[in-house]
Amino acid sequence: MIELDLLGAHAPRAYSILSSLVTPRPIAWVTTLNEDGSVNAAPFSFFNVFGAEPPLVIFAPGDRDDGSPKDSARNCRRTGEFVVNLVDAALAEVMVKTSASVPYGVSETAREDLETAASSAVLVPRIAAAPAALECRVHSIQQIGENRIVLGIVHRVHVREEFFESETMRVLGEKFHPIGRMASPNWYCKTSDLFEIARPS
Ligand SMILES: Cc1cc2nc3c(=O)[nH]c(=O)nc-3n(C[C@H](O)[C@H](O)[C@H](O)COP(=O)(O)O)c2cc1C
Repeated sequence: MIELDLLGAHAPRAYSILSSLVTPRPIAWVTTLNEDGSVNAAPFSFFNVFGAEPPLVIFAPGDRDDGSPKDSARNCRRTGEFVVNLVDAALAEVMVKTSASVPYGVSETAREDLETAASSAVLVPRIAAAPAALECRVHSIQQIGENRIVLGIVHRVHVREEFFESETMRVLGEKFHPIGRMASPNWYCKTSDLFEIARPS
């Protein structure tokens, strides 16, 4: 085995090593509101759900090289709201386009001609073409080094009908296939190759 010291000699490679090993990661395509009311959209794969009572999500925008927060973090702090839009293969290319660095206030949804839909519990709209979306309010934001850890509570979930069975209140895992992020910087995976293992009772 090769041993690496991410706080020492190998610190400059920490991002690349960790983000290529801890895979696949889900992708939060986060919408937030800019100061002028336009919609900011950006993907984050330092993201997951972390509990159900309360329903908790976390995503982590790293700071820019000059130490300033990314627009998503800045908007979350100001408005206290965000929406996590989930991403399937059909949306992969446009999702990546919205990761371009653009000046604050430039709306990626307008730039990429992405239709939005009104949310119920928050003012931030969701991306209409996303197969699912989580309306969130910010619980807290922690700053650890260059990372801003945005903790959010999920207030509403939207799932496209074809992926949800209302009688059993079950997401149809055999149909819902979000993409995952693989090795840094440009690799992704599909999630349609499933297998099942029953848990011991
Ligand atoms: C699939 C994908 C995942 C990403 N994940 C993260 C992440 O977890 N943290 C981060 O700081 N940047 C991440 N980025 C880069 C941001 O999307 C990019 O810096 C973006 O410009 C931030 O936008 P904002 O300033 O509007 O928030 C990711 C990019 C891609 C394509």
